[in-house]
Amino acid sequence: MPNTDVLEEIKLHILPPLPYAEDALDPVISADTLRLHYGKHHKSYVDTLNKLIDGSELAGLSLEQLINETASKADKAAIFNNAAQTWNHTFYWRSLCAKGGGEPPAALKQKIEATFGTVDACKKELATAATTQFGSGWAWLVLEGDKLKVVKTGNAETPLTRGAKPLLVIDVWEHAYYLDYQNRRADYVNAVLDKLVNWSFAADNLG
Ligand SMILES: [Fe+2]
Repeated sequence: MPNTDVLEEIKLHILPPLPYAEDALDPVISADTLRLHYGKHHKSYVDTLNKLIDGSELAGLSLEQLINETASKADKAAIFNNAAQTWNHTFYWRSLCAKGGGEPPAALKQKIEATFGTVDACKKELATAATTQFGSGWAWLVLEGDKLKVVKTGNAETPLTRGAKPLLVIDVWEHAYYLDYQNRRADYVNAVLDKLVNWSFAADNLG
């Protein structure tokens, strides 16, 4: 019989599998970028998080609980950064898909049109948020109350801690695009919005 008491205590955060093959987003995002971004950067956030919380009172918390528990606490910044980056990246992979872009599902499209006028206007607002985020960060489509909104966050920050519900995200850290686009962040962002963005995932997140 396995010792379940011991098993219960080992609650490591895991690196979830990519929802597609490493070359699935090529040529918009190359397999080389995905291999590094997922296999090195994302993995490193998960591994570092597990080391930082090992044996502490935070070890039993879910990822979202950890993020909320450590947000804005200077002495917990390293834990927050690695927990939020773990969450943000898992959400980013799911915000993309091969043969993405195009028209959002009807319910989401209707909400987008009510807020932004057109899907293109929504994409434009996302692109502006993504390209004007100074330094590293993220551009998000979120639901705030009953309203859609585009927001940007710096470094590991996430709308989760501001009471908003993320629907979709674009990673604008240089590691997300530099191999493929060098300094041309706008080209990466527009290609993602036109060809990879997973509107069905965003629609599912509406709940
Ligand atoms: Fe990233």
